[in-house]
Amino acid sequence: MTDKGSKFAGEPVLITGGAGGMGEAMARRLATSGARVAIVDLKPDAVMDAAARMQDDGLDVIGVPADTTDEDAMAAAVAETVRNFGSLYGLITAAGIRQTAARFTDIELTLWRTIMEVNLTGTFVAIRAATPELVATKGAIVTVASVTAAAARMNQSAYATSKAAVLHLTKQVALELAGSGVRANCLCPGVTSTAMIEQAVRTDGPGVLDAKLKGSLEQFRPGIPLGRLAEPDDQAAAAEYLLSKDSAFITGIGLYVDGGVSMLG
Ligand SMILES: NC(=O)c1ccc[n+]([C@@H]2O[C@H](COP(=O)([O-])OP(=O)(O)OC[C@H]3O[C@@H](n4cnc5c(N)ncnc54)[C@H](O)[C@@H]3O)[C@@H](O)[C@H]2O)c1
Repeated sequence: MTDKGSKFAGEPVLITGGAGGMGEAMARRLATSGARVAIVDLKPDAVMDAAARMQDDGLDVIGVPADTTDEDAMAAAVAETVRNFGSLYGLITAAGIRQTAARFTDIELTLWRTIMEVNLTGTFVAIRAATPELVATKGAIVTVASVTAAAARMNQSAYATSKAAVLHLTKQVALELAGSGVRANCLCPGVTSTAMIEQAVRTDGPGVLDAKLKGSLEQFRPGIPLGRLAEPDDQAAAAEYLLSKDSAFITGIGLYVDGGVSMLG
């Protein structure tokens, strides 16, 4: 186990989308830093397997299958976390789905609705389910949007719009919870090496993010000022900061972890 210091002293954290990609990296990093972590994910086998992998490494992690768009399931997931760990200090909403590249004129309305439902409503439902417990501990929330929250991308109208809304929702939540001592901030990742982006590169036609980026993950590199894709742990490090007391006076921001892409507009 890597020693990344002890930013947390057993504080319980719930991470949605924790069975893979960034969510799993966040769980691993936070648990390594002393947090007790509940990972929540749609896929029951995947979430229990991910939790078992981390438990094998000596980390205090439990798996809780749940769909973030389901209010009752999320209430149960929060209750399960509190039953195991006694309270809830942190929430990270990393669950999300991508959009198959399509011009806004061509996107199926059902796909548009599904993307809004998972990326935006799922984030909202998770935050509402966790809020009473977070108020009790004066905890913190980290939502996960995207660089597309700030700048349009070709053929990503549903995804980018959902992520812009997640950023704004985070500001609303931050404002409405500031008086309760709960902070909320939004992580805005650039292209990050996970299953989601690998699938996009494999299956989407020209026009995913930008036509000239089609192909291998390496083809994203020239558009990134720092010259590489993000690793999941780059995002986990930023989420850890936003959740920890190191960012005690920061609330309502979008933090772009994108190798400089957002400065290009
Ligand atoms: N990978 C990137 O390049 C990138 C860039 C910007 C933003 N993001 C965002 O980061 C977040 C994590 O992405 P990732 O790349 O790790 O993706 P991923 O596909 O590897 O992981 C996402 C996880 O969310 C889970 N999930 C999906 N819908 C769910 C639901 N309704 N309820 C519970 N769990 C659900 C999936 O099962 C999966 O395990 C997403 O919100 C994504 O939009 C990713």
